[in-house]
Amino acid sequence: MVFSRTWPPPAGGRPCEMITVVSPKLEDSVFLNACRRQPVPYTPVWFMRQAGRSLPEYRAARSGKAMVEACTKPDLITEITLQPLRRYPVDAAILFSDIVVPLRAAGVGIDIRTGIGPVVEQPIREEVDLQRVRPLEPGDIHYVAEAVRALVAELDGTPLIGFAGGPFTLASYLIDGGPSKSFDKTKSLMYGNPPLWNALLRRLADITITFLRVQVGAGASAVQLFDSWAGAVSPEDYRRSVLPHSRRIFDALAGAGVPRLHFGVSTGELLGMMGEAGADVIGVDWRVPLDEAVRRVDPGKALQGNLDPAILLAPWEVIEERAIQVLAAGRTAEGHVFNLGHGVLPQTDPDVLARLAELVHTVSARTSVNGGSGGRPPG
Ligand code: CP3
Repeated sequence: MVFSRTWPPPAGGRPCEMITVVSPKLEDSVFLNACRRQPVPYTPVWFMRQAGRSLPEYRAARSGKAMVEACTKPDLITEITLQPLRRYPVDAAILFSDIVVPLRAAGVGIDIRTGIGPVVEQPIREEVDLQRVRPLEPGDIHYVAEAVRALVAELDGTPLIGFAGGPFTLASYLIDGGPSKSFDKTKSLMYGNPPLWNALLRRLADITITFLRVQVGAGASAVQLFDSWAGAVSPEDYRRSVLPHSRRIFDALAGAGVPRLHFGVSTGELLGMMGEAGADVIGVDWRVPLDEAVRRVDPGKALQGNLDPAILLAPWEVIEERAIQVLAAGRTAEGHVFNLGHGVLPQTDPDVLARLAELVHTVSARTSVNGGSGGRPPG
């Protein structure tokens, strides 16, 4: 099947149409079909942070290499992205990278410290600081495009999910200067200087759009916008100060022909608006049961989630019972992609993840005779 993707030429300027040939296998992808609310033979599954410190082979591949450096090496990106697929029968791969990669590539002095997270050299507090966030050119992240192309060839029909950080989450690192519990500096800028807040978030959204378009242009077949910390703001503030920027990102990707997923932690009160922002699939953390999330999100969206990652540290019987509960609640959605409610914890036993992915497939195939993760009754 052939469809077109919108793609800006490397020099920027007006978007032009690029014809992409999609292999028949990718068209049959259970993950992509669930995202599109099409019937599927079983509920697809992947895990946020499936690549990473829970895998000994990841720790070996990364040893002696800084995280931000690792994210610029196509061979290493490819290897680490593929590692979880050798262990787990997951239905999608997610690119090994980080939300700070496009910011660094756009000139921001930002590093990732092990056990801490992103740390910014000079946080953004005033108009003049905006100069340190320049626009991102596709050539700035050529290593991402190279890795995606290599991965698509290797994956042979398994979809690759591209991703980026959402506007609030990126802004929070740039303004607070690093991880924060209260987001006090971020919020004080959001409340106290709306013009600067909006100028910064517009710039971050532009960077995100370029980052995502590069990934889709190179062959990523879905994109997830992680606005992990957006749950820190009230619904009113989300609508006023975050949603317009997220919407711009999703609008810019609307013609790309790939499902757009959107996720944040503690976003129970924001789920409806995250849908309004334009994503096709809304990620839900473990705090809101999926059947309740269905009521909070407008029709026409699939859901993703939402087993508490900490449950994976419990005995198998507990994991099994809770996973089956998630699958049952997910059947009330128009489409369901099984995932955790946030990323895999580093102390998780990889064998448990393998067993869980298998369980999701077998249980959902048994209980949905007509193949609907979409909650349609058997035919
Ligand atoms: O497998 C995957 O999911 C793909 C890889 C991925 C990473 N970061 C690799 C990574 C993804 C999707 C991200 C996104 C990301 N990065 C988010 C959004 C998702 C979420 O978890 O909410 C956020 C908030 C970040 C920022 C960030 N980068 C944090 C908070 C950390 C953890 C710091 C720590 O050491 O505890 C990172 C580092 C990071 N990103 C690691 C990995 C595998 C660990 C780095 C290491 O091995 O030292």
